[in-house]
Amino acid sequence: MNQYDWIQKECAELEQADLLRHLRTLMSPPDNTITIDGRYVVNFGSNNYLGLSTHERVIATAASATCVFGTGASGSRLMSGNSYHYEALETNLAEIKGTESALVFSSGYATNISIIPVLAGEGDLILSDALNHASIIDGCRLSRATKEVYRHCDVEHLKELLSKSSDFRRRLIVTDGVFSMDGDIAPLQDIYEVATNFGAMLLVDDAHGFGVLGRGGSGTVAHCGLKGKNIIEMGTLSKAVGGLGGYVAGSRALIELLINRARGFIFTTGLPPGTVAAADKALKVMRSSSNLRKRLLEHAETVRNALTNIGYTLLPSQTQILPVILGEPQHATEVAEALLANDVYAPAIRPPAVPAGTSRLRVTVMATHTDTDIEHALDGFANVYSHKLQ
Ligand SMILES: Cc1ncc(COP(=O)(O)O)c(C=O)c1O
Repeated sequence: MNQYDWIQKECAELEQADLLRHLRTLMSPPDNTITIDGRYVVNFGSNNYLGLSTHERVIATAASATCVFGTGASGSRLMSGNSYHYEALETNLAEIKGTESALVFSSGYATNISIIPVLAGEGDLILSDALNHASIIDGCRLSRATKEVYRHCDVEHLKELLSKSSDFRRRLIVTDGVFSMDGDIAPLQDIYEVATNFGAMLLVDDAHGFGVLGRGGSGTVAHCGLKGKNIIEMGTLSKAVGGLGGYVAGSRALIELLINRARGFIFTTGLPPGTVAAADKALKVMRSSSNLRKRLLEHAETVRNALTNIGYTLLPSQTQILPVILGEPQHATEVAEALLANDVYAPAIRPPAVPAGTSRLRVTVMATHTDTDIEHALDGFANVYSHKLQ
């Protein structure tokens, strides 16, 4: 026995419960088709929704910025790491979101765990949707505010909790715009109305709506007709934008306060200049590529209908994220492995990423999938269904 034996024991317990995760090795760019663990397969497991991480002009921008400015920022943004590329990117983000200002962080996760503790602290109340992303949950924990979880997308429950909240100093409602594991869209119009009536702040995490929904891909808030309203938006540059980084869009005063208080902004190195420049270029491509968005959502519709017709149980998503519910973790991993053997990569998602009993495949389509990719993948799904699920 030594003081580290518990580590192996915990891993064994996870394995026993079919909850042990393993890293898979990607040997190709994150495109419509990939080589993963030595297999060439259709990629139904990527957040590179528009294919921008391998877009020619985006790569060329990243390469030239890297050649001139080097591979790293070498300091935090408040010290020496604020390369001039940030200014263009943040101006671009604020314009897309229709806000006074925007601020870029090193990831979406870093954004949520940094901004929530600035927006709420001891004596405040955070109202959080039951299916919010882990980074929101962690941000709430770090804030030391009181947290109440409202039932998923249940505005009546939110109202009920708010009606008992007058003792708190400030109230913050926080919700995913598009839910990351379910693909449904938060009822933002109703939530905004409730927030306004109760004088509560509203923070929307648009990680999966940005680049996909709304005019020019401006996101879920715009999609719900709320662009320009008093809503704080955060999101990520790592999904439809195809790179890395997170952002907040809001008032000039908010951004000023975050620069001074958000610990995950202050105490970390800035992003590499090539990454910042690439995100700015990707946003420009994204805004002018309504054909990519259209194709993405058409693919989602095709795959949703086909999987349902084969016999799979899907949650009612309205976006490019298609959750195929399988139940127990072991079942989800078995089906994912069978799909891989049929040249389709669709990752199994198990607790704690999703509630117990709802392990699933998180199928995501990309605008860059060809019709042949989709046909091939659907053949794989049909084959696995007839052998494993019928
Ligand atoms: C809803 C949501 N918020 C935040 C994040 C974190 O973003 P990033 O991957 O850029 O850290 C994710 C990533 O999966 C997400 O799904």
